Parts: sequence; structure tokens; C-alpha cells
Amino acid sequence: GTVQAQTTVSIENKEDTPVISKHIYGHFAEHLGRSIYDGLYVGEDSPIPNTDGVRNDLIKALRELQIPNLRWPGGCFADTYHWKDGIGPKEDRPTLVNAWWGGVTENNSFGTHDFLNLCEKLGAEPYLAANLGSGTVEEFTDWIQYVNHSEGSPMAKLRKENGREEPWNVKYWGVGNEMWGCGGNMTPEFYANLYRQYATFMTSWENENNLYRIASGANQDDYHWTEVLMRDIPKHLIEGVALHSYSFVEWDKKGSATDFNEEEYFSTMKTALWMQELIDKHTDIMDKYDPENEIDLIVDEWGGWYEVEEGTNPGFLYQQNTMRDAMIAGATLNIFNNESERVKMANLAQTVNVLQAVALTEGENMLLTPTYHVMKMYTVHHDSQLLPVDFESPDYTYNGESLPAISVSASKKDGKVAISLVNIDAKKENKVKINLEALDVENMTATILTSEKLQDHNTFENTEKISPEQFKDFKLRKGELQVTLPPFSVVVLESE
Ligand code: AHR
Repeated sequence: GTVQAQTTVSIENKEDTPVISKHIYGHFAEHLGRSIYDGLYVGEDSPIPNTDGVRNDLIKALRELQIPNLRWPGGCFADTYHWKDGIGPKEDRPTLVNAWWGGVTENNSFGTHDFLNLCEKLGAEPYLAANLGSGTVEEFTDWIQYVNHSEGSPMAKLRKENGREEPWNVKYWGVGNEMWGCGGNMTPEFYANLYRQYATFMTSWENENNLYRIASGANQDDYHWTEVLMRDIPKHLIEGVALHSYSFVEWDKKGSATDFNEEEYFSTMKTALWMQELIDKHTDIMDKYDPENEIDLIVDEWGGWYEVEEGTNPGFLYQQNTMRDAMIAGATLNIFNNESERVKMANLAQTVNVLQAVALTEGENMLLTPTYHVMKMYTVHHDSQLLPVDFESPDYTYNGESLPAISVSASKKDGKVAISLVNIDAKKENKVKINLEALDVENMTATILTSEKLQDHNTFENTEKISPEQFKDFKLRKGELQVTLPPFSVVVLESE
């Protein structure tokens, strides 16, 4: 490609910067399409190797990804879910029609025990989204008692009868989901009052691990929603406010996941990079009501959203995952890292077989997507200290419009420095110069994720088409790092 002028990035070695919470690298698995059933959960009797019904290949892949938390059971599904239908002997459980996603009937065979035991196996914190839209305060508080109270209560007794002695100590609780839409089409004023009511009755019992309550957040640039929640919910009742934002070509004309042109790529990246402005503006509102920064911003749904793969159920949201998705992931995670002062958790939608998945399955086969690889390359940032970066990005221009081509974030842990760089330009490589003198870095190793075409993706026939490779196109001399980023690439450098 054509060479652009060199961009100079300065990295400050400051001490008082936030830690990039590993929870920014969280995931989300809804009862939707083939996410749980015929995705994570194939059932105890499946010929596919499994542990308590969950695919072993997925358990291994997600453990290697060090997923810090997993959100469940929705999404829109959460506000239709009655958790008591998903406990006890599986053959006795009532069925349920999944009204939001394809109208399919499920048998409730994957329930609270299945999910929380899976989280234990993954070493991930569960994040339960509770039902406000069609549930009751009692149902909600019973759920907390069931999973968190050690003994001496009706729900602790029921849990023990169902074979689980110790509580799971679930910390993260979503108080409803998308309450402005599928959660009940509420006004922010009505929801803020309802939130106050529910949050009042949430108790962590004797559990030291105090509950972390997350209010259902705004859709993209609905700043009024955040304003009302911040204004009307007393601080002692809330730990986090959510935000949802998906990337797409156009909401009403999403386009194919794999067969897209540069114009569609550009539009998708525009909505993805919009995340920066959304976080800035929601944060401004939060700063106004919470200048002490005690309430966190939780981006508990984000990712690319396209048309479903041909021949699949439109309600199942099954889509392929290309280098475009790697660009969304790399750039978005850089934004979250840089905003880690306020953004303490995020959840990519969704883990398996739904939207921007990290893994796809077909029968006994599984593949890892480009998004998986980006998430894995970025694990070096988990719980590392943010190193603020400053630079002027060159433009990525298409049809007279431009976007910043480069995104960067950096962190340090135990004296080691990690830098993640993304060049979203579809055609041009970009040269970056970074002064690392203040950081005492002598040697670095690097990994790159890229491919020949933006539309490239892994298939069940060729699962390794896109996978991280060692990257050598950089120089480090006397504290000055020079990197050449190929078009649409993600590069992560780490000091030795
Ligand atoms: O992730 C798919 C859906 O997107 C979720 O169920 C909902 O919360 C959002 O609208």
C-alpha cells in the first residue's frame, strides 16, 4: 500500500493513572439462537465431548481467553426469564417460548446451577441480569438469596436440596435490561423509580462480597436516559450505569457479515468509533452528578451487528466474523482501556454463535474468530496500569469523509509495558513512532493479526486462515520505537 507520513505517539509514565479493569474484557451469553443450546450447552448426553453438558473445546478456548466475567441470561430474554423454572430435576422443568428470539420452545435445561457452575469452571465472575420487566421484587430477591445465602433461609435450603451446598457469591447484578425497549418500554423517570424499589430490597446477606448493582443503561446517544438515572437514583443504591452500542452499516440495512464493500466497512467503523464520543458525553453527565467517580460506566453490550448468514433463522442472529470485526474489537478495546477511569466493565455481544462471537460451532466442529484473537492478544492489558497516550491520528479517508486511522492504548504491569495499535485504513499502511525512553524498555516482542482481504474469515474448513503471527516490522533503538502498521491490522507489542 501507499505509505503515510509518520505519526508520533507520546506515552506518559504517570503513577496516578487508573488500572484497566480486566472486566472490560467481559462477555455475554443470552438464551438466543445457538448461543446456549447447540452452542455452549450441548447436553450431558451429547456425543460432543462435554463437561456437565458444556462443550469441552469451548471451555478450553474461553479459559485461554481468560474471560473475566460472563453476563447471562440476557439481553431481552432476561426480562422474560423466570429463574425458578430452571432449577431442580431437568425432566420436571417447564418449557418456555423464547418470545424475543425466533419463538422457539426451550426446556429450561440450562439454568442457574448450569450457568454458575460453568462460570466456576471458566474462572469467570457471573453477571446475572434479573427480570424487572415481567418479574417481581420477590422473585428477584429470592434469586439473590438462592445463589448467595449460605444457610438458614428458604432459598438456601432449596439450593442445597438441588445439590449445591455452598453459595456461589454472585456479585454483579443487572437490574433489568434495555428498560427503554424490550425490558418494558419505560420512561427513564418510571424506570428510575422502579430501580430504587428493587435496589432497596437487594441484600448481599452475610456475603462480604457486596452486591454490585447495575442500572439498565442508555441506547447509544440517549443522554437523557443517563441524566435521569444519575439525577434520580441515590448513590447508595447503585454501583454502575450501563450503556449499549452496536456497530452496523445502517440499522435498517445491516448488510452481509462477509460480503461487504469499502463503503459499508467505512460506515461500520464510523459507528464503532462513535463509542469514544458516547463515552465522553455519558461520562460528562456522570461527572456532573458524581464528581467523586463512585459510579461506573458499564458497556454491557457492544459489537458488530449484520444480517444473519443465509439459510439461518433471522431470530438467531448468527453471523460470520471477518477482519472488519477484528478492527471493531481492537479499536473499541483501545477506547475502553483509555477510558478506564470510568469504564470498569464491558461485555462483547455475544460469546458463541450470536452477533460478534468469539467462537462459532457447527456440530462437533468449532472455530475461533478474528475477534477471539484480538481479545486474546489484549489479555496483557487485564488489570494493568494505564499509560495515557497522546497523538494526532492520520485520517482514513473514504469518499470525502474521514475517520482517525490509528488507535493506541498502553499499559504497564510488573515493570513490563504493553502497547496495542490498530490501523483501520482499508488501503494504506501507517508508520508510528513512539518514545519509550521514560519507560525503560529495551526489548520488545510483537504479534500481529491481519489478512489479505478485509472480508477474510475463518471457516470450518480453514479454521486458521486468520490467526495471530509474530510481527517483526518494528525497530526499537535508544528508547525510540518505530512500527509500520499494514492496512487493517492489530499489533500488540510487549516489553521483555
Ligand atoms: O444482543 C442482542 C440483543 O440486543 C439483546 O438481547 C438486547 O439487549 C439488545 O437489544
